Amino acid sequence: MLAPVAPAASTDDHLFHFLDLFHKDIQHRLGQLHALATDLEADGPTTAIRTQARELVNWFSAEAREHHLDEEKHVFPALLSSNVEAVVDTTHRLIQDHGWLEADWNEIEPSLSAVAEGNTWFDPAVLRHAVEVFEQLYVDHIVLEESLAYPEARVRVDPSQLDAMGVEMAKRRAVRDAQSGKD
Ligand SMILES: [Fe+2]
Ligand SMILES: [Fe+2]
Repeated sequence: MLAPVAPAASTDDHLFHFLDLFHKDIQHRLGQLHALATDLEADGPTTAIRTQARELVNWFSAEAREHHLDEEKHVFPALLSSNVEAVVDTTHRLIQDHGWLEADWNEIEPSLSAVAEGNTWFDPAVLRHAVEVFEQLYVDHIVLEESLAYPEARVRVDPSQLDAMGVEMAKRRAVRDAQSGKD
């Protein structure tokens, strides 16, 4: 087990505040996804469910993936360079989780895109189960990040790199938006 580390009151506040807010957003979207999968079984692809399915496909395919990249580029490297074995092991577990979350999402996304188009060629019960698996893994992952990885990273991230990190994160999103035709 990792020893808890007191958060550092330093210039990294902005980065970690951003990441914390993002976790709240993920949890909100997971709640929407869970409700959608449940309602779909009962009601079929209503207009409201179709609209929300499209929004969730767009959000998890874009924003959630950017969050994983933010962590892999700017949080996890500081942890992997630790000489504490438990910190390194936990970070490898978190990176592996990102792979599982991607695999789970790739299983869910085609069915959710079908819902957005008003199609239900899949079994809604299978979709609901896949959503529950995705949701549980995400919640466990976020708990591990917030309780162990982020507190460790706060004292390990190099403050002189914070501006460059912010620039990279903003640029990556700008490139993505330009490629997808967003303003
Ligand atoms: Fe993560
Ligand atoms: Fe995260």
